[in-house]
Amino acid sequence: MSANINQEQSAPQRLRGRRALVTGANSGIGRTIALRLAREGAAVAINFVKNPAEADEMVQEIVAQGGRAIAVQADISNEQQVDAMFERARAEFGGIDALVNNAGFETQHPILEMPADAWRKVLDVDLTGAFLCAQRAARQMVEAKTGGAIVNISSVHNVIPWGGFAHYCAAKAGLDMLTKTMALELATERVRVNSVAPGAIQTPINQNVWGDPAMLQDLLRKIPSERMGQTEEVAACVAFLCSDEASYVTGAILYVDGGMTLYPEFRHGG
Ligand code: BGC
Repeated sequence: MSANINQEQSAPQRLRGRRALVTGANSGIGRTIALRLAREGAAVAINFVKNPAEADEMVQEIVAQGGRAIAVQADISNEQQVDAMFERARAEFGGIDALVNNAGFETQHPILEMPADAWRKVLDVDLTGAFLCAQRAARQMVEAKTGGAIVNISSVHNVIPWGGFAHYCAAKAGLDMLTKTMALELATERVRVNSVAPGAIQTPINQNVWGDPAMLQDLLRKIPSERMGQTEEVAACVAFLCSDEASYVTGAILYVDGGMTLYPEFRHGG
């Protein structure tokens, strides 16, 4: 079954005049999100930690299409680098209206063998890094009295336990409680905080799975829609949550997973 997503040409212009920062924006889901926000009219800060060439190429692509973008290097688990990144965004754009906390990674270790260092590295980026960025973005939004939108890219593994990935699952579950608690604290400041929880989206992060026919078949059995998702299908939801169309949506966890969280084994009763 193929995806029916012809969003390339039809993106609405909901983010004209807005300023967005997307972390981990040089590849995978983050790359498509950054390009989508730019297509909807936002000025976009493209955060990356490695591979400046990929980020620079995106900036050129956006600028060539009449948009506005900058590339900003920062390891989001490093507080000083996060501060410098938000100062740069403020200096270039004058402020920030939307943050997409997308940067994250996973490594595989059975729980009995997981080194504490591997645990810490995943928590440092996937959870603490998201907190640092969300806090800095929210401070700018509150100070400017403009409000704004924060979208945290979580995962179906916020609720689906995943053998070999205890650190990643713990980080994503934690990220969603960060979403809800920040949403609660900042609602009166008009800062909306939501999560988008993707399922199996075809990106470099899971190439080992979709590149292997047997592993792919096993994965598809877990997805009621019987296909992997595409990055644009996540980006469309993120753009909506960043826009005023989602003005009354805060503290929500939006699954973009083809039904993966619906207990697929129960599809035929029994
Ligand atoms: C992971 C992918 C995985 C998907 C579904 C995501 O959070 O990053 O590697 O394919 O969840 O299990």
